[in-house]
Amino acid sequence: MPTQSSSPYLPFGENKHAAWYGKDIISVKQFERADLEYIFGVAHEMRGMVERVGTFDLLKGKILANLFYEPSTRTSSSFTAAMERLGGSVIPINEVKYSSVSKGESLPDTVRTLECYADVIVLRHPETGSAAIAAKAARKPVINAGDGVGEHPTRAPLDTFTVMEELGRLDNLTVTMLGDLKYGRTVHSLARLLSKFSNVKLNYVSPDILRMPKEVMAEVAERNIPQAEYTSLEKVLPETDVLYVTRVQKERFEDPADYEKVKGAYVIDPDVMKAAKKEMAVLHPLPRVTEISVDFDDDPRAAYFRQMEYGLYVRMALLAMVLGKA
Ligand code: CP
Repeated sequence: MPTQSSSPYLPFGENKHAAWYGKDIISVKQFERADLEYIFGVAHEMRGMVERVGTFDLLKGKILANLFYEPSTRTSSSFTAAMERLGGSVIPINEVKYSSVSKGESLPDTVRTLECYADVIVLRHPETGSAAIAAKAARKPVINAGDGVGEHPTRAPLDTFTVMEELGRLDNLTVTMLGDLKYGRTVHSLARLLSKFSNVKLNYVSPDILRMPKEVMAEVAERNIPQAEYTSLEKVLPETDVLYVTRVQKERFEDPADYEKVKGAYVIDPDVMKAAKKEMAVLHPLPRVTEISVDFDDDPRAAYFRQMEYGLYVRMALLAMVLGKA
């Protein structure tokens, strides 16, 4: 468990962010640097509160509908834990096949139903754009917990919060993203968000068929952030401050033969990491399969389990913000 330190962030409440009350969170494009700094401040306070008292009543009486059309361990359970740590409660729909979706109920009708019972809806759905459709249908806030290969906008704030807590800065960083950069919605959101910081350099390392989408690179380029693509990690690992490893996602491939060609393309292990800096961090959105060896887990640079814990505090902050309590 990370240790609690004095806050490097703005004090809780000392910012404009009643602005998030009642808002949907659909895309990472909604977050400017000031928003992130505010989220980090609230998340840091949440961390301190959890460490001191465990659970407290900031959202007592509020209900979250957790609507998941795709599998999830971390996102679903961290939103549940976040709501319960804040004294609220949760309607869990983790298997839509047991809901009226299996009878053909549409997404707009499903969210209109859930908002009759809940104050906020967290949605994961396999189709890109589904969160925006749900938000249009709903009067209550909708939080996108992953829409197909589109975005996962609550992840990028937690990934950047992890970097802040681990390395103490988001400016002056070389970040290398590795693996499935085509289908990996987490890296799409993270690249967009990191482009809002100064003196950031982004390296993309992937097999040729899994390169970072051109539209993401074009958006990042608009902010004059240097970007470079590679197929091998070797050249860029020694300069890397944050290595963001992703799983090659079997479930996203139309042709299984393509998956077989690239599934074991990169493996991070203690031997590979000898070439990396001593002060750097390895992140992974998890779940992993073979791309990070378990032999590396005890290395202090392996931040991916701490990253999950930071996700709890960021999701507590986001729930409190959209429900008008932060
Ligand atoms: N990385 C991530 O979002 O994890 P889950 O799919 O388990 O939610």
